[in-house]
Amino acid sequence: MNNQYNVVITGTGAAVPEQVITNQDLEKMVDTSDQWIISRTGIRERRKLEDGYSNTDLSEKAAKEALADAGLEPSDLDMILVATVTPDYPTPASSCLLQARLGAFNAAAMDLSAGCTGFIYALTIAQQFISGGAYKNILVVGVEILTRVTDWEDRGTCVLFGDGAGAVVVQGTAEDRGIINCSIKADGRGAELLYIPGGGSKHPACRETLAERMHYLKMNGNEVFKFAVSQVEAMLRDLINEEGLKPEDLDMVLLHQANLRIIDYVRKHLKLPVEKFPVNIDRLGNTSSATIPILLHEELVAGRLKKGDLVAMVGFGAGLTWGGILMKW
Ligand code: UT7
Repeated sequence: MNNQYNVVITGTGAAVPEQVITNQDLEKMVDTSDQWIISRTGIRERRKLEDGYSNTDLSEKAAKEALADAGLEPSDLDMILVATVTPDYPTPASSCLLQARLGAFNAAAMDLSAGCTGFIYALTIAQQFISGGAYKNILVVGVEILTRVTDWEDRGTCVLFGDGAGAVVVQGTAEDRGIINCSIKADGRGAELLYIPGGGSKHPACRETLAERMHYLKMNGNEVFKFAVSQVEAMLRDLINEEGLKPEDLDMVLLHQANLRIIDYVRKHLKLPVEKFPVNIDRLGNTSSATIPILLHEELVAGRLKKGDLVAMVGFGAGLTWGGILMKW
């Protein structure tokens, strides 16, 4: 138990639904345009989970792929962490449902609600359990079915979100690589800048909450945008400065995919080339806690992330929360 391990990701997986919603589809639903959505967000299309399927269906697919990639059996897992704000049920946790689906009965299971920073929070927690030697194999999933909490009459939000799941297997290694630095932060004063007001214990579901559309995600986009651009750059700089590194040392930066303008802003401030900031927001929209693990999986499959690369991941979102991880791949 006193051993200290370096913490690495040894398997990845991702799953997105088949149904595509294009900007042209949205033009028929609300007063918007393809041109507005692309120029203000960078989004061209997003995915929507078919009726009858749920959070656990999508996370199961991503999790199985990550386990196979890591060469693990479900029974090898010590813990399952699911980052989500759109679980199947208010209780129990979606991680318990996933544990049962996988047959991972040796694993502790918990959900984590940190908005779009959920994956970074969960990976940081996994790092703590692995580095001290308490656990050997942890599955971390970022999954959201945001189309189920999207108000399809609100053009300010419905053009932004999509469904998806990404999963990683986290293990220890004696090799000189893995997580170098991590940081998670919150400022609850901004809680109501991005939230779902109805359906919880403050405003339980009733006819009035339904009539007032309180079960849908509400966002003050301008305020969240300002928070994002300032904190994401500061987080990235802190992660690398604390290790005596410079922005140009980074081989890849996986940023939460909320808006292409936020990604471009951060990239330009750090004076880094566009190739170092992969994106999937154009194809998937904002999938909240799933954006970073899906992006990571895509980059690995495409062979663009290689052993020894210095990679940073930064998330930000509801809470308000934000957080980052620096790792040598
Ligand atoms: O993932 C969690 C973190 N989330 C974020 O980081 C999101 C951060 N915020 C944003 O990405 C942006 O604020 C949005 C994409 C949500 C909005 O972009 P914006 O450039 O801040 O637009 P805005 O809200 O200032 O609205 C500008 C105009 C308004 O019209 P008026 O008042 O100038 O006449 C809006 O009504 O654009 C209008 N508008 C739209 N027009 C066409 C808002 N949404 C739409 C739309 N189509 N879908």
